[in-house]
Amino acid sequence: MKKGRILVTGGTGYIGSHTVVELQQAGYPVVIIDNLSNSNLEVLDGIERITGQRPPMVEADCTDMAALEQLFTDYPDIKGIINFAASKAVGESIEKPILYYRNNLNTLLNLLDAMPRHGVKGIVFSSSCTVYGEPDSNPVTEAAPIKKATSPYGNTKQISEEIITDVVNSGAPIKSVILRYFNPVGAHPSAEIGELPNGVPQNLIPYLTQTAIGIRKELSVFGNDYDTPDGSCIRDFINVVDLAKAHVIAVERMLEDKSDNKIEIFNLGTGIGLSVLELIDAFQRATGVNVPHKIVGRRAGDIEKVWANPAYANEVLGWKAQTSIDDTMRSAWAWQCKLRERGVM
Ligand code: UD1
Repeated sequence: MKKGRILVTGGTGYIGSHTVVELQQAGYPVVIIDNLSNSNLEVLDGIERITGQRPPMVEADCTDMAALEQLFTDYPDIKGIINFAASKAVGESIEKPILYYRNNLNTLLNLLDAMPRHGVKGIVFSSSCTVYGEPDSNPVTEAAPIKKATSPYGNTKQISEEIITDVVNSGAPIKSVILRYFNPVGAHPSAEIGELPNGVPQNLIPYLTQTAIGIRKELSVFGNDYDTPDGSCIRDFINVVDLAKAHVIAVERMLEDKSDNKIEIFNLGTGIGLSVLELIDAFQRATGVNVPHKIVGRRAGDIEKVWANPAYANEVLGWKAQTSIDDTMRSAWAWQCKLRERGVM
């Protein structure tokens, strides 16, 4: 049976590009829409080198309804959407809340609005463990309470989940799977695609690999006085390819009506909490490369510890994060080395 086309918004971004690869390898035709605000067209070359297919891409902004309408008209075989297109820097969102609310919410509203008109059956939404705030206990299940968001970025994820729920419950002829990611890290094992943030990285792994290669002098570890065994924060670091694979399963589940539920929510994590210092150790052990680092004060707004209970996704989706942290760290390093080789940085 010919598979329906999947619209991947933000498909040249970090998680989006890895998901496009997995979709193509699973036989799904795709089309990307991306405004290139935090990515570049060379990502398409990387995807093509891995899969042998260059995904079609429309350079446009999802907040532009006319552009979206044109895209759905040009690709009438779109059956599902995976929505990655969003701004995602926590700190920036506190400085520029209007940008975050406008970009993240209008994108979602436009997609939900257009879907029924174009016979698009389902949308997979990128949410985050940020909706749990500082959880009362770990590991976190999907039933854990949603805490008040500590940033406009986090609030856009909470509001987006509510919008999707309201629209699906209104009887609109659409389904949704909401995926709450923990901390995605690493790169494709081919080192053809990976994470490439603009400017100084805010997230741990890109800062770490840029330090390891000498672009940054040293990595600052934000706090060693938390209530954790070594005092640094604990996260659930999930391999980006494992994460991408969950999207293919989720989209198939929606489009092939494998569930009676019109809306489903899954935690995507490994179930293993690793501290920032343990992660630095893992990187050094796996790659043999030293990472100069120093302890500095806490970063405002950081959660002390959060890791997933992924049992529901494991059972219902038949999906499990499989890549070891050492392999993941090696993939992140191989990608950083590839960027150097290509003269990107
Ligand atoms: C946060 C959000 C997540 C969001 C992501 C996007 C939470 C729980 N998570 O992830 O939803 O998708 O931002 O940007 O709100 N660290 C250092 N030094 C650094 C950088 C980070 O020590 O230079 C530490 C942080 O203090 C934190 C850990 O590394 O403890 C992970 O940080 P980061 O990679 O920024 O991700 P989160 O803040 O967990």
